[in-house]
Amino acid sequence: MISREVIGRRFARIATDAAVRSPRLWPLFRPLLRKQFDVLAPVWDSMRLEDTFAPYEKALAALDRPPADVLDLGTGTGAGAFVLARRFPEARIVGVDMSAGMVERARRNTPASEEGRLTFQRADAAALPFADQSFDLVTHANMIPFFDEVARVLRNGGHVVFAFSSGATTPIYVAATTLRAELEARGFTDFAEFTAGRGNALLARKGDRP
Ligand SMILES: C[S@@+](CC[C@H](N)C(=O)[O-])C[C@H]1O[C@@H](n2cnc3c(N)ncnc32)[C@H](O)[C@@H]1O
Repeated sequence: MISREVIGRRFARIATDAAVRSPRLWPLFRPLLRKQFDVLAPVWDSMRLEDTFAPYEKALAALDRPPADVLDLGTGTGAGAFVLARRFPEARIVGVDMSAGMVERARRNTPASEEGRLTFQRADAAALPFADQSFDLVTHANMIPFFDEVARVLRNGGHVVFAFSSGATTPIYVAATTLRAELEARGFTDFAEFTAGRGNALLARKGDRP
């Protein structure tokens, strides 16, 4: 018999593929995927391994200068946002997740010393509550990409990171060729690919054209 975990992982991949191929389908998948992550929120931290953020960290290490405003999409319990806070001590960081359970955990996990510059909000990455060109860096760790919104909220010259902890076996995974094609179509350049731990990551820069 197939376990609930396997069904959940397969559903996450189906939702990812559908949202990338046709973002208009996303509202059909959102309620069930949100419920899935609400259920996972209490145990999510125990599912993170030592090298879960190795590819994410490697891509961040390649940035040529520290960003001032950073957005971590699909932040879950906030582990990626905490990586950002340690690496960029001067940055303002927002972690966004559609799951209320995940956001609640992320807030609870936030060290008192980071409160103020590191905040968490519930929102859908497909329709972000931020003005155009608000961020210098937008990050994704094991998160479905919504390319139009990333391109909208990034400043010209800003960077985007996509990291997948287990490479192609990560439930939410998008091949680098697809990421590059979607980003190139929106004027992104300076692509760099990384492998670390069990996973991979891609870094790109938003071109200067409006
Ligand atoms: C696989 S988890 C990754 C969490 C965290 N980044 C990590 O690697 O530990 C994916 C997260 O993205 C969130 N998510 C998925 N689609 C989203 C969307 N459209 N908007 C905001 N959050 C979303 C889920 O609720 C979930 O918490």
